[in-house]
Amino acid sequence: MILVTGGAGYIGSHAVLELLQAGHEVLVLDNLCNSSRVAISRVERLAGRPVNFIKGDVRNRPLLNALFAAYPIEAVMHFAGLKAVGESVREPLRYYETNVSGSIALCQAMAEAGVFRLVFSSSATVYGETSVMPISEQCPTGVPTNPYGQSKLMAENVLRGLANSDPRWSIGLLRYFNPIGAHESGQIGEDPDGTPNNLLPFMLQVAVGRRSELNIFGDDYPTPDGTGVRDYIHVVDLVKGHLKALERLEQSNGVSVWNLGTGAGYSVMQMVRAFEEVTGRPLPYVIKPRRPGDIAQCWSDPRKAWQELGWRAERDLTTMLADAWRWQRQNPRGYAGEKTGDKKTAPAALAS
Ligand code: NAD
Ligand code: UFG
Repeated sequence: MILVTGGAGYIGSHAVLELLQAGHEVLVLDNLCNSSRVAISRVERLAGRPVNFIKGDVRNRPLLNALFAAYPIEAVMHFAGLKAVGESVREPLRYYETNVSGSIALCQAMAEAGVFRLVFSSSATVYGETSVMPISEQCPTGVPTNPYGQSKLMAENVLRGLANSDPRWSIGLLRYFNPIGAHESGQIGEDPDGTPNNLLPFMLQVAVGRRSELNIFGDDYPTPDGTGVRDYIHVVDLVKGHLKALERLEQSNGVSVWNLGTGAGYSVMQMVRAFEEVTGRPLPYVIKPRRPGDIAQCWSDPRKAWQELGWRAERDLTTMLADAWRWQRQNPRGYAGEKTGDKKTAPAALAS
């Protein structure tokens, strides 16, 4: 059985579905502070199998101990965390506590239970402001400009220290580039609370009329058309990479780092044009000043994951946008139509 923390969230819910479809038993631990129980019900419907779901906090050691005692957990995929860059600047302690202390509590409980295989959700943000593209795993980590990025780098360092201290650990640090898209069924997808921070969720809300126009943050970057360039990766490709990492970690120990990206960069302007093609409608936009903390460009060298995991992203940009658009059209208010009232109910509580 695989314990998936944060399994009700955007990436976690896709991972749970993929794990179930690959024949794994899954236990989800999520406090639903940024997600809905509805996502789990939909995963159950898509997989045709029930999911063991526990509403609770990854910082809750007694709860973790009880879960490891009650279920035959062999490995953990750790998605639970907070991810909003701006919010992390306003509430740094909440970010360090959840993303760093939460990971420490999880590892303590794992070690006590004799479980040493861990797949960790890291981010390309740990590379900081590097100018050498594409970014390979050899590239040194930089200085993330916000507490969110710092918390991911700190958690990576904690996990490295842990693996150095005890050879039984086998840990995969997966550095995501920009996950977008949704499951092809349109049943699960990204459901941001409030105003979306990220490009595609914002574009989707403009396209369904929830917002009037897209703000493009800067058109004077040193990129071909002046707008920021990123490596967008389909969330289903991303979670397939997690399953490959999980398998690989069974045969290795120590810490392994893998970039999960496509290796191709697209500018904001290219995204707007591709999105208009897919939706068949114009996307109104205005050019705004650069967003503080943004880098000009960022794309991956994904070869290490291909060489070591036999994994590479297969879905192209049109598929990413078409799948995201299907999700948005079928669920214009996200999971709210079926909401259980869970979202944003227990951010700090150690619910069990
Ligand atoms: P998400 O917010 O949709 O999912 C995170 C899940 O963790 C949510 O369901 C939330 O309720 C849960 N959670 C948060 N704090 C918790 C706690 N203390 N205890 C239990 N559950 C808790 O975010 P996502 O996009 O699915 O991201 C998953 C992971 O990937 C995060 O760790 C995130 O930092 C990382 N990541 C995401 C991106 C991205 O662009 N989406 C990029 C790089 C890394
Ligand atoms: N952008 C806009 N308008 C918007 C939102 C974004 O023009 O409304 C631009 C940004 O300036 C940037 C690009 O679109 O050039 C992508 O921005 P996102 O906010 O979608 O993504 P980021 O690359 O800034 O950050 C994301 C995650 C981080 C993660 C990072 C690397 O939000 O958590 O990818 O993995 F660390």
